[in-house]
Amino acid sequence: MSVTPRPPIPSFIPESAPFTPEQRLWLNGLFAGLFGLEESVTPLSNIEAAKWLTGLLDGEAAAATAEADDGAPWHDPAMPLAERLKLADGKPLPRRFMAAMAQQDCGQCGYNCKDYADALFANSEKRLNLCVPGGKDTYRTLKQLYQELDGTPAAKPISVMPPLITRRGYSRDNPTYAAFLSRRRLNKAGSQKETWHIDIDIENAELDYSVGDCLGVFPRNDAALVDAVVTALHAPPDFPIADRTLRDELTDGVSLSPAPDMLFQLISYLTGGERRRKAKQLCAGEDPDGDAATLDVLAALNKFPGIRPDPEAFIEALDALQPRLYSISSSLRSNPGRVALTVDAVRYAIDDRIRLGVCSTFLGTRIAPGDKLRVYIQKAQHFALPENPCTPIIMIGPGTGVAPFRAFLQERLATEAPGRNWLFFGHQRSACDFLYQDELTALRSSGLLTRLTLAWSRDSDEKIYVQHRMREVGRDFMSWLNDGAHVYVCGDAKRMAKDVEAALVDIVAQYGSRSPAEAIKFVGELKANRRYQADVY
Ligand SMILES: Cc1cc2nc3c(=O)[nH]c(=O)nc-3n(C[C@H](O)[C@H](O)[C@H](O)COP(=O)(O)OP(=O)(O)OC[C@H]3O[C@@H](n4cnc5c(N)ncnc54)[C@H](O)[C@@H]3O)c2cc1C
Ligand SMILES: NC(=O)c1ccc[n+]([C@@H]2O[C@H](COP(=O)([O-])OP(=O)(O)OC[C@H]3O[C@@H](n4cnc5c(N)ncnc54)[C@H](OP(=O)(O)O)[C@@H]3O)[C@@H](O)[C@H]2O)c1
Repeated sequence: MSVTPRPPIPSFIPESAPFTPEQRLWLNGLFAGLFGLEESVTPLSNIEAAKWLTGLLDGEAAAATAEADDGAPWHDPAMPLAERLKLADGKPLPRRFMAAMAQQDCGQCGYNCKDYADALFANSEKRLNLCVPGGKDTYRTLKQLYQELDGTPAAKPISVMPPLITRRGYSRDNPTYAAFLSRRRLNKAGSQKETWHIDIDIENAELDYSVGDCLGVFPRNDAALVDAVVTALHAPPDFPIADRTLRDELTDGVSLSPAPDMLFQLISYLTGGERRRKAKQLCAGEDPDGDAATLDVLAALNKFPGIRPDPEAFIEALDALQPRLYSISSSLRSNPGRVALTVDAVRYAIDDRIRLGVCSTFLGTRIAPGDKLRVYIQKAQHFALPENPCTPIIMIGPGTGVAPFRAFLQERLATEAPGRNWLFFGHQRSACDFLYQDELTALRSSGLLTRLTLAWSRDSDEKIYVQHRMREVGRDFMSWLNDGAHVYVCGDAKRMAKDVEAALVDIVAQYGSRSPAEAIKFVGELKANRRYQADVY
């Protein structure tokens, strides 16, 4: 298997010292961290660390984790979990771990799907609940598979961890503080969406980013929801938990969204009879009343009224509040000391209560100008402008998928890159959902944006999506591809990205005079050559 090249680490350990190269690397990294030399060390991401670690596993274990040529047929975010597991059935444990992930390679867990799986297998990562898009289903499956880990002869956990040398602010495990500056609504009256342009001051955080990177944000729960949970618990909000209070923990320590299995387990200890049976069933992933999918923490407490869990045990039973990622929608070159995001506020009603997406409404409503927030830069793995500034680019970004492309365009403007730029943007209604309309039309008029192709899904009875527009201009699209264009897609992983790829294959077949099989191969080569890059969620 191939091992990721090691990042440069200054040498503290002489070559003559009695260490293996791996031990020397580990110790050098450790000392670099201890002596505060992180600035001079290329950050080693969890992904790189996991790859390196996997490379250290010997023989059988490495073979089991590698399996790079099985094609990972389950690696499709649109495929249901049961189908993914079926495809991985009989494969070595790390591959089944991988199939349990949401397959978005979104980086929210700090890895990509394969590396998170390998890190679990290597025992260098013990947290099973990091796959945010996979949610409880992924967690439960991992928990089950994890039981096999002890009995697997191939699993040879190594006793030392490679140091995760990350500068402060460059990983979810080592975030930093930035200051919230402002928000402005991007939709006009009449929109069904609530999309915010967010500006954050990173000057004092000394963060550096490239276009294509994401910002990880640690949110805080809604104060009214925290109050409601405290009331349902019948506990004092200032109940001490370690050096914090119950309210502190509920505000930024734990997730109040889907009620975790552990909470139902706790509830089962505190109830009897029919209620205990139901709590146990919910804990086991069953759905006795048909409402399991709607049970956030508050709804779970309300379903079992009158229980009085010890506040500390209650907090222990909840999941940690996880950071969320947002594509950065600015270029540092044109916005020194600033980072911009484009955030769609998630709100939906269940029964008569409005549920809030924790991070999107934190950014869209709750945080105030001047407030500090915990953030980190998630470096993009393979989502970047082409190295050659003359290379044409085609960007496909409906909805908030436009975010990184605003950054790309700012970067190309700031660097006076001569390459042509074509943006496909789509949203619900032209009158109110044309995000960044002024900027984009100005860039179009200035010529920086060579083409701007728009798709409105709710302007007429007919759904017009970006992929429909791509097909309409397929001949030109193919001509750009023949000129070496790089293609980018950003936004919804489940449906849009798949449909866009299908349209690309059709265009290559029709206008590139290729058979369907040849067109699929051509698109595969675009991907392999990093000429087709996706940032989907
Ligand atoms: C690499 C990457 C880049 C991203 N970039 C952006 C970006 O630029 N802009 C952006 O807005 N987002 C972006 N996201 C998504 C973002 O990270 C969050 O997932 C999103 O903001 C929702 O988070 P939240 O905390 O607000 O919602 P959560 O509290 O996580 O709630 C969302 C969950 O609520 C549930 N839900 C949502 N709607 C409904 C409904 N109608 N009915 C029932 N249940 C529902 C679903 O289970 C959903 O997973 C990106 C994600 C990744 C991985
Ligand atoms: N989990 C999901 O199913 C899902 C999907 C998308 C977005 N989201 C969430 O919604 C928020 C972001 O929304 P957003 O502002 O980016 O907009 P969006 O909801 O992704 O919609 C943007 C545009 O894409 C259209 N669209 C829908 N299906 C499509 C498809 N298969 N191919 C191409 N275009 C398609 C939409 O049309 P119509 O709406 O008119 O059909 C709309 O015009 C985020 O919080 C994200 O996590 C969730």
